Amino acid sequence: MDTTGQSEILGMLREKFRIDTSGYRPAFLSRRLDKRLAETACGDYSEYIQLLRSDGGAELKELLHSLSVPVSMFFRDPLLFDLLAEQVLPDIVECNRQGQQSRLRIWSAACAAGQESASLAILVAELRHPQIEQIYTTLFGTDIDATLIARAREGRYTARDLEHVTLGRLRRWFVEREGLYVLHPEIRQRVRYVRHDLLDERQHLPPDVLFSQFDMLACRNLLMYYGASAQETIFNKLDAALKAGGYLLLGRSEYTPEAFRANYSLVLPRTGLYRKRSHRV
Ligand SMILES: C[S@@+](CC[C@H](N)C(=O)[O-])C[C@H]1O[C@@H](n2cnc3c(N)ncnc32)[C@H](O)[C@@H]1O
Repeated sequence: MDTTGQSEILGMLREKFRIDTSGYRPAFLSRRLDKRLAETACGDYSEYIQLLRSDGGAELKELLHSLSVPVSMFFRDPLLFDLLAEQVLPDIVECNRQGQQSRLRIWSAACAAGQESASLAILVAELRHPQIEQIYTTLFGTDIDATLIARAREGRYTARDLEHVTLGRLRRWFVEREGLYVLHPEIRQRVRYVRHDLLDERQHLPPDVLFSQFDMLACRNLLMYYGASAQETIFNKLDAALKAGGYLLLGRSEYTPEAFRANYSLVLPRTGLYRKRSHRV
């Protein structure tokens, strides 16, 4: 493996996009780079570096996308979303209730183009509580990739993104236009989208967030791309932002890092839904 070539390429990414790839698993990085080399028909790293220097930044952007693996879809893992709709969100609303009002603070911390954050916003829009007239909701959607954040703000999706959306929700919350599905403004406006790098230790919370104490935090299908030390950096941030008793959503095959395990309990196997204990163990 040409490690000098590889570090030069990663250095270019760092300089242009402030992306720190040092926490990525080396095998993952090599696979992604090899794929870009094949797709650009470059024979080796030095040819690829020439391309990166000469095409005005287009390939560097492609490389960034290939590393961020922005695979997502609405209601990815339907069982989890059913559980959130039927049990978890109503419970939080009830716990936070003050008279006829309540509040909900949610952060989707690697939201790709908004598929996950908008799914959560749909659940919130559909929440009904007989004794509560108003639920004040704060919903943040953040991702490291500014292009994805711009797409999330636009709210236009492909049929593939909507594979798990029921017919009722499709009719209620989307309009088909020129082969794409446009998300209802009511849902789009419920989410505040901001670019945020979970590995950036200078910023504990997304810009615009005044205080942490989130009731629910989603960070799904992201930890698996990072090595142990980066996972811990990310988890420190998530743990500090989530209130005691709050819910954490990880990917189905992701786990809380060892150092945090005692303070989180798995709500239901194979859902990635964890609850932070009320008291530190
Ligand atoms: C596989 S997608 C998961 C999207 C969504 N959470 C889901 O499960 O459907 C991983 C996302 O993590 C984002 N990401 C990668 N590194 C990140 C970081 N350091 N900070 C914030 N987001 C990051 C990527 O841009 C990508 O959108």
